[in-house]
Amino acid sequence: MQEKLNGIAASARTDISMAQSQEDLKKIQVTYLGKKGKITAVLRGMGQLSPEERPLIGSLANKIRDELAALFAERELQLRKEEQEKRIEAEKVDITLPGRPQELGHFHPLTMVMDEIADIFLGLGFSIVDGPEVETDYYNFEALNIPKDHPARDMQDSFYFNPEMLLRTHTSPVQVHTMEKVAPQVPVRIIAPGKVYRRDDDATHSPMFHQVEGLVIDHNVSLADLKGTLLLFAQQMFGSHQQVRLRPSFFPFTEPSAEVDISCMMCHGKGCRVCKDTGWIEILGSGMVHPHVLEMSGYDPEVYTGYAFGMGVERIAMLKYGVDDLRLFFLNDIRMLRQFR
Ligand code: PHE
Repeated sequence: MQEKLNGIAASARTDISMAQSQEDLKKIQVTYLGKKGKITAVLRGMGQLSPEERPLIGSLANKIRDELAALFAERELQLRKEEQEKRIEAEKVDITLPGRPQELGHFHPLTMVMDEIADIFLGLGFSIVDGPEVETDYYNFEALNIPKDHPARDMQDSFYFNPEMLLRTHTSPVQVHTMEKVAPQVPVRIIAPGKVYRRDDDATHSPMFHQVEGLVIDHNVSLADLKGTLLLFAQQMFGSHQQVRLRPSFFPFTEPSAEVDISCMMCHGKGCRVCKDTGWIEILGSGMVHPHVLEMSGYDPEVYTGYAFGMGVERIAMLKYGVDDLRLFFLNDIRMLRQFR
């Protein structure tokens, strides 16, 4: 019996010293000192011993149990320290490494241009409104005097969700939302910047682009007000030397209608890829709000008149910064974008 106990003790000592982790050690502890452990089994079997042997074996077993318990505690402390050291080593920071430079972000050039446009119009007493990018046929076309099957719809081929819902092809539906909200109050003097969508894709067209809509309604608003406002805008945006051209045009929701061109900054009017060899770049469509449009949204065309315009932000940005391909704005190439810091 004594021998057996000493044997268990010897193998326990080896096992303890060989344990490689705290977890390992816990398992070993259970096999020796646990409820069903080897030492415990010996103590349980004491009943079969003779009365003379019992105290001898009993005290030996207790001595061994105490010794092993102390060894386990000691080894545990040791392993814990080792594991901690390993962890610290793994997490060690090399303070000689160079730091990671923090790059300062900046606005996208289109955002900067939209802010600049907004600033000019805010200075003229306009306020800024917002509208949905998903529109119904009514707001995008019908309420703007573009009935179903009207050929003007072909110019704005769009992305439809179903026959009644589409991604807006222009910001003009915000005119309608605004009028519906405030009619018949005047004056109305708003701009509405935002994203618009069309099935178009080349050096000067992108399927998603930005417009800024403008709408003014009041008593006695005339074409002269429209012209004066847009001239002032063009000169603030591009400089007082900049030429502006008003060209008769057609939009179903304005009458009369005019397209506003500015001279091409890429080629100074000589003709190039950007201006399609005309020397001029169209930056906006405009006109006097059509009486039907006023009427449909709650303004009496006998009492009120108004003008509206819609400009392409990308075109303005291209001219301002001399970018010759509109698609560069959307490639997210950091080498292009960081030039606008
Ligand atoms: N919505 C027109 C377009 O996208 C522009 C426009 C706006 C024309 C307002 C006239 C008045 O082409």
